[in-house]
Parts: sequence; C-alpha cells; structure tokens
Amino acid sequence: MPAYRPPHIPSTDITPRDIYLSRRNFLGTAAGFAALGLAGQDAMAAPLSAAPGAYKLDEKLTPLDAVTSYNNFYEFGTGKTDPKENAGDFKPTPWTVKVDGLVGKPQEFNIEDLLKYQLEERTYRMRCVEGWSMAIPWIGFPLSALLDKVEPLGSAKFVSFETVVRPEEMPGQRGLFQPLDWPYVEGLRLDEARHPLTILAVGLYGETLPNQNGAPIRLVVPWKYGFKGIKSIVRISLVEKQPETTWKNSNAREYGFFSNVNPNVDHPRWSQAHEQRIGEGGVFSTQNRPTLMFNGYEEVASLYTGMDLKANY
Ligand code: MTE
Repeated sequence: MPAYRPPHIPSTDITPRDIYLSRRNFLGTAAGFAALGLAGQDAMAAPLSAAPGAYKLDEKLTPLDAVTSYNNFYEFGTGKTDPKENAGDFKPTPWTVKVDGLVGKPQEFNIEDLLKYQLEERTYRMRCVEGWSMAIPWIGFPLSALLDKVEPLGSAKFVSFETVVRPEEMPGQRGLFQPLDWPYVEGLRLDEARHPLTILAVGLYGETLPNQNGAPIRLVVPWKYGFKGIKSIVRISLVEKQPETTWKNSNAREYGFFSNVNPNVDHPRWSQAHEQRIGEGGVFSTQNRPTLMFNGYEEVASLYTGMDLKANY
C-alpha cells in the first residue's frame, strides 16, 4: 500500500446490521434488487447458511456497511470506496478454482461444489498493514479440507494463490497506470496453509461474498496482515519454493512474505503498535487499540519457533 491513509468512516455513516437487514427485507428478493437497478453485488448476494464455528470473538462486530464499503481491492481501483463503486460488473459465477502443482490429484473445483462443503461461521479480527482493523463474521471452510482432496506430495512446501485477471470487468486493471502487476498473487508455507485457523471464505454476514470483498472465494489468515487475504481466487498451486507475492514484489523492504501481525516490528514508515478499529471512536480518534501479537491468535506461535520474526517480516 503506497501510503498510510487514516480511515475516514465516521461511525455515524455506518448502518447497524439489523437496520441494514430490515432495509433489505423491505426491498425484497434478489429479483427485486435487479428490478430496482441496484448495483451488481446487491443483486447477487444470496443467503448462505453455515454452522456456528469454533472461533468466535468476544468483541463488537464491525457493521456490515463498513465491511463492504471500506475495502482494498486494487483490481477495482486504489481508493477505499472504489471496490464497492466499481465492482458492479464483476461476474463471480460461473467460477472454477484450479488446484494443481505438486499434488497427486490435480482438480478444478466449481464454486457450486465448494459451497456444499461444511460451511462454518467464524468471527475473526482483520488487521490491515495500514493500521486499521475490523471484526468480521466470515463463512467458509478450512483450506486444509480442499488441500486434502488433491493429495499434496511430500515435495510440496508452499502454497501459492492467484486472483483472476479480467480487465473488462475490473477497471483497476485497465489503462496506462497500473499500481501492481497482475495477477495479484499470494503465498503461505504449507504448515500455515494447513493450520485450522486458515480458511477459504465464501461469505460474510450470512450471505455470499460481495464482489468488493473477494467474490466468490478468498483467503482469510487472521494472524497475518490483511493483504495476505487474496481475493477472487482462480488458482491454488502446491510448490517447492517460496512463491512470489504481490506486495513483496512491489516493495520488498516494506512488505515481507510472512507478514505476521506484530506490534513489535514497525513498518518502515509507521508504527504497528496500535490500530484503529473501523466504526469505533468517531472521526478524530486514530489508533484506538493496541495491536496484539499474531493479531491475538497466539496459538500459531509454534509455527515460528526458532525464527527471527524481526528479520523474517
Ligand atoms: N486481493 C486482491 N486480489 N487484490 C487486492 O488489492 N487487497 C488486500 C487483500 N486482498 C487485495 C486483495 C488487502 S491490502 C487487504 S487489507 C484485504 O484484501 C482487504 O480485504 P477487505 O476489503 O475484504 O477488507
């Protein structure tokens, strides 16, 4: 992310979920939305049921309006409101995710089949490297469930992920000025990918993912900075060597491969000791909470035993 921009969503702009939902009910079905000519995703979001998952935060959730209108998704523009404004023409169906590389059974999965996995609702903290955070009720399933299906070989050490490239539907991929190289790519070590906290999310707040949040399927790794959560995934490959990652390629001094949330390792241009929870504290307050080691998910610490977390940012 080129520069730290403090969040500008006053809490008064944010609609609580119950009011949001009653407004939706008033407007009626998906067909009703289409008839009203509302922007793409509102017409497509569909209810998605999921069992309550094992991970639940004892924290106030970030209101739905904020989760879906304050985003980073450079394929739709670099501004925080660009993704919602520009993602209306994006088509998250039909969709397939190819899983290949060092696996016994490479496969291509239809999104319809992935939606039949045992879906869970999990509320996770999300901490962006820029200094803001949210608490989001995701719906998804452990990435390890998908990896099991393709049978990774012993030589597989890392997992790489790739976002779709569709300049015709993604205005941020058109034009002379391109802020990043496409496709957006990310990666995890295999043991990180297999950790029970790591999920592929297909929904949030009880509905399928809005386009701006990474429809139809995105990665969520709650102990890492938000940019590791690659959106609109079309390919997952098991590989031997540490894969390329978009933000490291863009600026290796500022964005490392691991990017675990760590209040003790500052970004070269700002402190990471505190964060601003979006929707809390009003317009003038910034950095209203201390940032927690591994974003509060201390159970992952054993993945990094013996590793210098300052050198391996
Ligand atoms: N994935 C893709 N393909 N393109 C992006 O620009 N931005 C990342 C991540 N995934 C991004 C992406 C960043 S910087 C963050 S903080 C999170 O998505 C934001 O997710 P959210 O908008 O759902 O909060």
